[in-house]
Amino acid sequence: MIADIRQAHPWNGVDAALFAAAGIKPADRVLDIGCGTGTTTRIAARLASRGYAVGVDISAPLLRTAQKLTAAEKVANASYQVADAQVHPFPPCGYDVIVSRGGMLSFPDPAAAFRNLARALMPGGRLVLVSSRSDPDRVRAVLDGWENVEVERHDGIRLVTAGRPRRMPGDAD
Ligand SMILES: C[S@@+](CC[C@H](N)C(=O)[O-])C[C@H]1O[C@@H](n2cnc3c(N)ncnc32)[C@H](O)[C@@H]1O
Repeated sequence: MIADIRQAHPWNGVDAALFAAAGIKPADRVLDIGCGTGTTTRIAARLASRGYAVGVDISAPLLRTAQKLTAAEKVANASYQVADAQVHPFPPCGYDVIVSRGGMLSFPDPAAAFRNLARALMPGGRLVLVSSRSDPDRVRAVLDGWENVEVERHDGIRLVTAGRPRRMPGDAD
């Protein structure tokens, strides 16, 4: 295997900021977008000790690795699903917290992804993501309709937090 250990460096210290901002509680249902091999899904699952975490990614091979690591680490409440976050029919109001480490703002249509994820999140639920690039104005634009949107710099990485309001544009009456 050829490993580029420099790839891990940008995330050093960022997971602590991501999960501090996410404030996952023991009974929470957590969705991890673009979870890759599931490192953050397993962290979320451990925090949601009486709930669970679901990691989604468009890459089936990455999710196979995630499943193997989850079994090896004996994390019983983490699972994975191949899904395109932009269009996947997630269960409405099915999650209390959504997290994402890297990548989401580079999806072809992040605004569509956030609209779709708003439907999956409980009113009052929290979205927290980290991204290695992104102009704060663009982040605010794609998070149209969300509340308390904050974009802060953290060791060269952007930490984005947002709340799902009681009503979003496009909610059914
Ligand atoms: C930069 S990687 C981050 C992976 C993981 N979160 C981590 O921190 O190790 C971005 C991930 O997003 C996934 N991805 C890209 N487009 C996606 C989409 N439309 N829906 C779900 N996942 C997607 C990629 O397959 C990739 O695993």
